[in-house]
Amino acid sequence: MLMSGQQLMSDESVLVELAVEETRGIQIGSRSLTSRYFLAPLAGYTQLAFRRVLRELGGIGLATTDLVHARLLLEGKRQSLQLIETHPADQPLSVQLFGNDSETVAAAARWLEDRGYGGIDINMGCPMSKVHGQGGGAKLACQTTAACDLVGRVVEAVHVPVTVKMRLGWDREHITAPQLAADLEAVGTAAITVHGRTRQQGFGGTVNREGIRSVVEAVKSIPVIGNGDVRTVEDAIAMRQLTGCDAVAIGRGAMLDPWIFARIQRALDGQTSDWEPTVNEQLGFLRRHFALMHEQHGDRACVLFRKFVAWYGARLGIPEDLETRLRLFESCGEFDSICTQIEQRHGERKSDIATALVRVPNGPVELW
Ligand SMILES: Cc1cc2nc3c(=O)[nH]c(=O)nc-3n(C[C@H](O)[C@H](O)[C@H](O)COP(=O)(O)O)c2cc1C
Repeated sequence: MLMSGQQLMSDESVLVELAVEETRGIQIGSRSLTSRYFLAPLAGYTQLAFRRVLRELGGIGLATTDLVHARLLLEGKRQSLQLIETHPADQPLSVQLFGNDSETVAAAARWLEDRGYGGIDINMGCPMSKVHGQGGGAKLACQTTAACDLVGRVVEAVHVPVTVKMRLGWDREHITAPQLAADLEAVGTAAITVHGRTRQQGFGGTVNREGIRSVVEAVKSIPVIGNGDVRTVEDAIAMRQLTGCDAVAIGRGAMLDPWIFARIQRALDGQTSDWEPTVNEQLGFLRRHFALMHEQHGDRACVLFRKFVAWYGARLGIPEDLETRLRLFESCGEFDSICTQIEQRHGERKSDIATALVRVPNGPVELW
């Protein structure tokens, strides 16, 4: 299913072909997944409440936790335990681990398997200095022998599928992902997710689909999951067509448009692409996300919820002044009253650009 050329993206027969494959779902190791569109991990965001509310909208094949420090998890640190909190409705789920000591990562994976977690993902793509400074993250992708030893050790330690998430390499001169993916397949990795940028790129420039394609071509049979800059149904389909990847992981696009997975499913089912959630559905989503967060964190949810608002504002038609108020609210009552006002004034918003997008370059986000 390798294609090139923009015009193929609009070819309906290609969409039909994708839809046929779609009904077959995808196998990752021993796991059968019903959709090839996955939620990529976004530390600080892709926690239980967000995963649940997104899953309720439909179309997610697999979600992964924020990255979890293997040693801190084994030490029972509260924050790490919170990151792996889950719920029967939060399935299928992988836990993403990072660390530089293979015994520790393997022990953490075993610990998770013993507690019923169905998949382990190993982070090799996080270029944040505090992660690669400890030998984990993107630095692992440059030390292929060490990376394979670590993953091989984890694969031996558990029965559940072990997957790896990586970038294309450290920089343009060191595109290690294709060879690394092939080597990781040889030690039993069940699938590879590749974000089509180098570590040096941060979040700049555009995703290199050729690079992702070279990873697809380098492995023998394991699925490759393409990742990066998928914001629309067309982006998702282009990712599949132009790279030949087996599945697509979507991160920021899911915060900008929580319905993106549902939209992809609709498109693949041959339904109209101009569908939009109603005002009730949009407000229902906002309230439900907050309620799930409150269920987990109690009143602390008021503070934790605020950071989502800059991503949601434009998509949910929240007038700018009410978006500002949602970034400061302090109680459930205040949240309710703001939601009521959003309902009454929905659609007054002037800008359809998410506030978060404007701010990304200055935050820690650019370092992932
Ligand atoms: C705020 C933020 C947090 C992230 N956290 C993680 C993480 O915990 N683990 C990981 O492998 N990648 C992480 N990433 C990278 C994303 O999973 C993804 O590879 C990247 O954002 C590109 O995909 P997208 O354009 O669909 O967001 C993070 C990215 C962002 C913006």
